[in-house]
Amino acid sequence: MNMNLVTLLYLIASVCFIQALKGLSHPKNARRGNLFGMVGMALAILTTLALIAKQAPGAGSAWLLGALAIGGGLGALAAARIEMTKMPELVAAMHSLVGLAAVCIAYAVVAEPAAFMLSTTGVLPYGNRAELFIGACVGAITFSGSVIAFGKLSGKYRFRLFQGSPIVYAGQHRLNLMLALTMVGFGSLFLLSQNWLPFILMTVLAFALGVLLIIPIGGADMPVVVSMLNAYSGWAAAGIGFSLNNPMLIISGALVGSSGTILSYIMCRAMNRSFLNVLLGGVGNHPLSASHAKHIERPVKVASADDAAFMLANAESVVIVPGYGLAVARAQHALKELTSKLTAKGIQVRYAIHPVAGRMPGHMNVLLAEAEVPYEQVFEMDEINAEFGQTDVVLVLGANDIVNPAARNDPQSPISGMPILDAYRARAVIVNKRSMAAGYAGLDNELFYMNKTMMVFGDAKKVVEDIVKAVD
Ligand code: TAP
Repeated sequence: MNMNLVTLLYLIASVCFIQALKGLSHPKNARRGNLFGMVGMALAILTTLALIAKQAPGAGSAWLLGALAIGGGLGALAAARIEMTKMPELVAAMHSLVGLAAVCIAYAVVAEPAAFMLSTTGVLPYGNRAELFIGACVGAITFSGSVIAFGKLSGKYRFRLFQGSPIVYAGQHRLNLMLALTMVGFGSLFLLSQNWLPFILMTVLAFALGVLLIIPIGGADMPVVVSMLNAYSGWAAAGIGFSLNNPMLIISGALVGSSGTILSYIMCRAMNRSFLNVLLGGVGNHPLSASHAKHIERPVKVASADDAAFMLANAESVVIVPGYGLAVARAQHALKELTSKLTAKGIQVRYAIHPVAGRMPGHMNVLLAEAEVPYEQVFEMDEINAEFGQTDVVLVLGANDIVNPAARNDPQSPISGMPILDAYRARAVIVNKRSMAAGYAGLDNELFYMNKTMMVFGDAKKVVEDIVKAVD
C-alpha cells in the first residue's frame, strides 16, 4: 500500500474524529457526530490492517482478525445491553482496556525493538525509551485507576476498594508522592540502561499508584474521575503512537487526551472545585452540614400537586429546572407530558440545564432527549440565566445545589462563586423533592425558605404525574 495513500486515509480519519467531537458538543448534532466517529474509526482500522498486511505479509493476520472479531463482538454486545444509568461504569471499563493495551504494547516494544522497526541492534534510542516510560506509566495508572472507578460506580461488589465511599488515611498524599517519585526514579534508570528490572518495578508502582489515587475519591465526584481517566487513556495512546510510529494513534490519542482534560476542567469549574481538590479526594460523601442542621426547623410553604398545577396553568412563562432527583425518579416522560399540556394552553415552557446537573456530563440532556423533548425548548445556563427575572413560575424538579442562591449571595458558603441557575429571581418558584434533606454539597438552600417558594414534597415521578392529571 502506497504510504502517501496511508497518510491521506489517516488524515481523513482524523478529520472525521474532529467532526465527531464537534458534533457531540450539542445534543442536536450528537447523532451526526457519532456517525463521523464510526466512519473515522472504521477507516483508521482498515488502513492500519492494510498497512500491516503490506509491511509484514501473512504475519499474524489471523490473530489480528480474530482479536478484532472478539473485541468488536463484545463491544457491540455491551453497547446493546447497557442501561443509560450504567454508562459511566462502561466508560470506566473501556478506559481500563486502553490503559492495559498501552502497557502491553510498551512491553512488546522493549522485548523486541526490531519487530517495531525502532532498532536493528536491539538498543532503543533514548527518545523511544522516554516514550515507552511515559506510555507504560500512564497506561498502568489508567488501567488500575479505571478498574477501581468501575467497581465504585457499579456499586455491586462488597470488596472495600470498590465501595463508593472514599478511603482516606493519615499520610495518604505523602505516600502517593513518594511512590510517584520512586516510579519516576525507576523510569529514569530504564531511560539510562534499558534494563528490564527498573521497567518492571516502574510498572508495578504505576499500577499501585492508579489504585491509591482513586480510592480516596467517592460518591458524586466519580464523573470527574472518569473524565480524567478518559484523558489519561488518550495521552497513553498518544505516547504509544510515537513508539509505534503511527500518526493515527498519536492524533486520536491527543484528541481524546485534550478533550478529556477540557471536559474535566469544565466540570470542576462548574462545581466550583479545583482539579487538585477533586484529585486529593475524600469528598463526595457528605454528612448533612452544620448549617443544614441549624436551619432544618425553619418553616417552609408546603403545597400540593394541585396547587402547583393551578400556578403552572395560570402562568404565561414557565422554566423547568431538572436535577439529579428527576433522573433518580425517572420522571422525564411524565415531565414531557406536562410540558405538552402547558404548551397546548399557549404557555411558554423552557428547560434550563446546569452543566453539572445530575451525576454525569450531559445527564439532563440525555434524559430529556430520551423523552423526546424538542431541542428548541432546552437552554444552557448561560443562555437562560438572564430570563429568570421575567419568568412567572420556575419548577425545580429534584435539583438542589444548582439553584442555591448562597453561591451568589453568601461569601462564606462552601459553594460561593459556583455558577448557578438564577431560579430565585423568578416571580414564583415551585420546588419538588422528597424532604428537606441536603443535596450533593450537603448544604441548606435559602431558595426553599423564600416567600415566593412553594415546596411540593414527594417522588418526582408521582408528583409530576399528579400535576399532569390536575392541569385541565
Ligand atoms: P443535588 O444537589 O444532589 O440535589 C438533588 C436533589 O434531588 C436532592 O436534594 C434530593 O432531595 C432530590 N431527590 C432525590 N431523589 C428524588 C426523587 N426520587 N424525587 C424527587 N427529588 C429527589 O443535585 P443537582 O441539583 O442536580 O446538583 C448536582 C450536584 O452534583 C452538584 O453539586 C454538582 O456539583 C454535583 N456533581 C455533578 C456532576 C456532574 S458531571 N453532573 C459531577 C460531580 C458532582 P431529597 O432527598 O429531599 O428528595
